[in-house]
Amino acid sequence: MMKLECGISSHVFFSLAAVTGCISIIVNMNSTDRYLKSGGITASRALEFGPTYVVKPKGKHQATIVWLHGLGDDGSSWAQLLETLPLPNIKWICPTSPVQPLTLYNGLSTTTWFDVIEKSEDASQDVEGMDASAAHVLSFLSNEPLNVKLGVGGFSMGAATAIYSASCFARGKLGNGTSYSAHLDVVVGLSGWLPCAKFEHLPDLSNKVKGHAASLPILLCHGKGDDVVQFRYGEKSAKKLTSAGFRNLTLKTFPSLGHYIIPEEMDEVSSWLISNLELEGES
Ligand SMILES: *[C@@H]1O[C@H](CO)[C@@H](O)[C@H](O)[C@H]1NC(C)=O
Ligand SMILES: *[C@@H]1O[C@H](CO)[C@@H](O)[C@H](O)[C@H]1NC(C)=O
Repeated sequence: MMKLECGISSHVFFSLAAVTGCISIIVNMNSTDRYLKSGGITASRALEFGPTYVVKPKGKHQATIVWLHGLGDDGSSWAQLLETLPLPNIKWICPTSPVQPLTLYNGLSTTTWFDVIEKSEDASQDVEGMDASAAHVLSFLSNEPLNVKLGVGGFSMGAATAIYSASCFARGKLGNGTSYSAHLDVVVGLSGWLPCAKFEHLPDLSNKVKGHAASLPILLCHGKGDDVVQFRYGEKSAKKLTSAGFRNLTLKTFPSLGHYIIPEEMDEVSSWLISNLELEGES
């Protein structure tokens, strides 16, 4: 089977072990060194996002989806891939994350939507970084025409950021309290996870997601052979989101899929988007 290697799979291995909550990252210096700077964890955090790639709809513009790449990747590879999907009614916006130091990798800089601080689920989480990325996504969505449906999706850490955005939408605010103003119509996460599941920045489980956010269609796809973000971690995230009150969540599992995407999965994503966004097609 043809494998479309997108994102970090061959470059950066980001593994989240569900049982231990252990996170390990190994960066292959050769393949990512175009993003590496002599880093260091600095106090000042001037986040500058990278270039954004837009795929214009070939047919009637009915929906706009901001799509977020994985760790060490950028928006261009995804724009090239998304353009090939049979979804003429969707405008894809593929931004690039800031290049910033990853604490877990001794402050080495790479394209990442937020910092990962420690090897534990219980560790402090970079809510500031997630907020900055969620706000960046929001800035694109806010500029879209009112009659267009809106979505956010991504791969791996981009999926984690998309899921974080869903939680902000449900709360009506970012983790820092600033209001989250966009109305999301769909969320898609491939090979990702729910970040800071144990923190109050997510819809807390005692205070269920209500109203229109509860019916927000969410599609999560995960491969059982994922050795980077393990399947059981994706499964656990899906359960947590469902118990938080997101009742329109679908978890699609792919038996032999690793930490990459395959055409069968993208076909699934396409047909799910067509039905959940009620897309008209070419005509
Ligand atoms: C919250 O985070 C967003 C995104 O980084 C930022 O624009 C906003 O100013 C922050 N608000 C507060 C109250 O710090
Ligand atoms: C999920 O969302 C789809 C698309 O909006 C809708 O047709 C369906 O009724 C929703 N299901 C639930 C359980 O809310």
